[in-house]
Amino acid sequence: MTVTIASPLTLPCGVTLSNRLAKAALTEGLSDGHNRATEAHQRLYRKWSEGGAGLVITGNVQVDRRYLERPGNIAIDSNGGEEALAALARAGTVGGNQLWMQLSHAGRQTIRYLNAEPVGPSAVPVKLPGGAFGKPRALTESDIAEVIARFTTAAGVARDTGFTGVQLHAAHGYLLSEFLSPKANQRTDQWGGSLENRARLLLTLVRSIRERVGPAFPICVKLNSADFQKGGFTDAESMQVAQWLQEAGVDLLEISGGTYEQLSFFGTGAEGDRAPAKAQSTLAREAYFLEYAERMRKVCRIPLMVTGGFRSLIGMNQALGEDALDVIGLGRPMCVDTDLPRRLLSGQASEAPRYENRLRMGPGILGPASTVNRIRNFNHMYAQGWYCVQLLRLGRGEEPDTGISSLRGIVQYLANEWRGVRALRGR
Ligand SMILES: Cc1cc2nc3c(=O)[nH]c(=O)nc-3n(C[C@H](O)[C@H](O)[C@H](O)COP(=O)(O)O)c2cc1C
Repeated sequence: MTVTIASPLTLPCGVTLSNRLAKAALTEGLSDGHNRATEAHQRLYRKWSEGGAGLVITGNVQVDRRYLERPGNIAIDSNGGEEALAALARAGTVGGNQLWMQLSHAGRQTIRYLNAEPVGPSAVPVKLPGGAFGKPRALTESDIAEVIARFTTAAGVARDTGFTGVQLHAAHGYLLSEFLSPKANQRTDQWGGSLENRARLLLTLVRSIRERVGPAFPICVKLNSADFQKGGFTDAESMQVAQWLQEAGVDLLEISGGTYEQLSFFGTGAEGDRAPAKAQSTLAREAYFLEYAERMRKVCRIPLMVTGGFRSLIGMNQALGEDALDVIGLGRPMCVDTDLPRRLLSGQASEAPRYENRLRMGPGILGPASTVNRIRNFNHMYAQGWYCVQLLRLGRGEEPDTGISSLRGIVQYLANEWRGVRALRGR
């Protein structure tokens, strides 16, 4: 029978997703001054849970409060947030969906306002104009043991507070993806050098978490198909890591790509930007990691989720029908249309609105590839504020406001971030 978005999927651990739509991780920025979940999270997750996706993945939850991606991150770090997490989990499962907690460590992409000396595999700074991130300190052997313990503890807390699975964030240039990248990881010990060594932290974590949560609890990994940077993690390496993750018992692999230096997860520099439009099928243009997923399928049978660019029902069903992947991840549309999955499943909607097209700021001017990339990166960073503001509104119990200009979006977003920084500094 042809697989469609409505088909259930049973994962290797035995858990069944009721359909093939997943709300991808979206950082919420709604925690209190102790990085604990709040009522705003409950409001937001209740909406997503009622929205019909078989799987809802939380925004990144940090395993170490010293290394945050945003001041409003939830963290699991002896901060007494278990009850609030349990309330979030109850609200986020009212629709009978799976609710998985995304676990992360921001690594060298820790925001400077909160910590000017982040950590990473090596002392290699993020190359970005504006100095958003400080120069990292290389983790010591005992620091790495602590990172493993923190991720494992956090996975246990997720399970004990009612989340039904976890996802390890090993994409987008945060700590776990830094270890995989030969550009960011220049270590010469057992954690760096060969691919086997660079992947050791991620694989050790999967095994350690499996031991903590048991065989029937879903473990998912979000992995870059590549960093899309010269000297970075390549797609051939990513396919090898995927095979190791399959052997280690991972239940679902989410494919994304890029880092803050190269925002491919929004379509910059990924297949969608690289190949000439004429040479691509409509579907490949829509979902920019699809071509990679199809190649991955040939070497590895780990269940695959692809996130990035899916907007049309036809495109989603075609990708599923052609067995290119198993689960469709939806990110930006879910910031505005929280019940999009339900409407796609019932046939009430055939398309997610493409706000990203209208949020582009500059014209697509021609210039050297690096300039075009920089402009695209900037556009995506700029638009990110607009999406974050929609989540803040939903958290307050308000409706999204798509009439907000991207400039107003970024101003409101920055004001919120600054309030968050002050709340953390004042604690
Ligand atoms: C506001 C916003 C917040 C995001 N937060 C996260 C996050 O916490 N963790 C993560 O892995 N990806 C995050 N992403 C990336 C999305 O999960 C997704 O990979 C990306 O938006 C591409 O999918 P889309 O084209 O459906 O939006 C975020 C994206 C947006 C727009």
